[in-house]
Amino acid sequence: MKLWEGRFSKDTARIFDEFNASIKVDINLFEYDIMGSVAHAKMLSKCGIISEEEGKLIITALNDILNDYRDGKIEFDVSDEDVHMLIEKELIKRIGQVGKKVHTARSRNDQVVLDERLFCREKNIYLQELIKNLINTIIKLAEENTDAIMPGFTHLQKAQPVLFSHYILAYAQMLKRDLIRFKQNFNSININPLGSAALAGTSFDIDRFFVANQLGFEGVTENSIDTVSDRDFILEMLFNIAILQIHLSRLAEDFIIFNTDEFKFIELDDAYCSGSSIMPQKKNPDALELIRGKTGRTIGNLVGLLTVLKALPLSYNKDLQEDKEFLFDSIDTAEKSLIIINEILKTLRVNKENMLMSCKSGFINATDLADYLVSKGIAFRDAHFIVGNIVKFCIESKKTLEDVSLKEYRQFCDKIEEDVYDFIDIRNCVQRRKSYGGTSQKALMAQIDNLKEFLKSF
Ligand code: ARG
Repeated sequence: MKLWEGRFSKDTARIFDEFNASIKVDINLFEYDIMGSVAHAKMLSKCGIISEEEGKLIITALNDILNDYRDGKIEFDVSDEDVHMLIEKELIKRIGQVGKKVHTARSRNDQVVLDERLFCREKNIYLQELIKNLINTIIKLAEENTDAIMPGFTHLQKAQPVLFSHYILAYAQMLKRDLIRFKQNFNSININPLGSAALAGTSFDIDRFFVANQLGFEGVTENSIDTVSDRDFILEMLFNIAILQIHLSRLAEDFIIFNTDEFKFIELDDAYCSGSSIMPQKKNPDALELIRGKTGRTIGNLVGLLTVLKALPLSYNKDLQEDKEFLFDSIDTAEKSLIIINEILKTLRVNKENMLMSCKSGFINATDLADYLVSKGIAFRDAHFIVGNIVKFCIESKKTLEDVSLKEYRQFCDKIEEDVYDFIDIRNCVQRRKSYGGTSQKALMAQIDNLKEFLKSF
């Protein structure tokens, strides 16, 4: 029996029931639906729309239903359609006529948005916590390895030497922006939609501000038509998660490369790798590959919901029911990715020797040689040309810039002196880059202090 069957003369087709039902997905909203119904029932009785005893009866039964759900005692079927119908049916089964009053001045159209807002609010806070944990892990990794120097890359070609700490903190900066975005999203989530009813509001003398207060919302939505059709707060969440995942996937990609035999900059812990069914020697970075791979679905989820919403007429349409799978999947992916990547960073080994060794090839200090010439009064563009010639000479004679003798250097430029070798020393190259936000130890310390300050105030 369906709660809305009064107008119908025959049963719906079973295949349509299955197509129509969202219960397998929105069962995840069970706790939030109860929370919302409790607040709604309180409001109905406070406003005299139902009696105080009726309110109490409904609230007690809702709490019992929640306990039974947590104990795994609530069964459901596609004929229950969605979580809202399931709970209302259960309520009526338990307290009869009084249970039939809970849906007064309410529609599933505002009810589902309420559930989603409560759900997103909690998940938003949890994701912020996970991101903060990850930033803290990155700071710790940076602090423990301030002496590690590695090649910085552009075009995946060796560019200039950088501190490993500076490199890894680049990801902390991305995560800091993610945090700010999630916080902004919290504000658009945390508004009470209940009381918009189907689309037009209600003729009952309800108190939407009381419900907002009960549920800890910052405010109340202003337009009932907009309220039942608005999913911007979910789009924002999906967008924020997609960007977050893109950051994680870039970190994953870097570390997959750094973990290869060719690089050996880091070594991943066994706990986050897996083996091969045929090649006994293999230890594959599957966890990082999956974080990279699953980023695709979070982008898909965002595009999926954007597409559902495009040109959807006002106000509520059943298309909107599709929002939940996108949302749940993205949140699940982000939570797991954040937890796993945090553990990966905590357990990996940093191979400082190999990082430094790698700085010895690829003329990574060529910019510094040009800067040296500038310090001797040569214009940068001329210095660039001279060093380009020196590099060409080195490639032909299989030398590094350190191998070039002073006599050879002077054939390219007579301003070069003995102090050149100190100038192009890899450590000095790093330490000289003291510009704000640069890679020197000094700038790094300021960066770490600022990040810690940011986390404290957040
Ligand atoms: N299961 C629906 C959803 O998730 C709830 C709202 C249904 N409303 C309706 N008019 N049938 O969107």
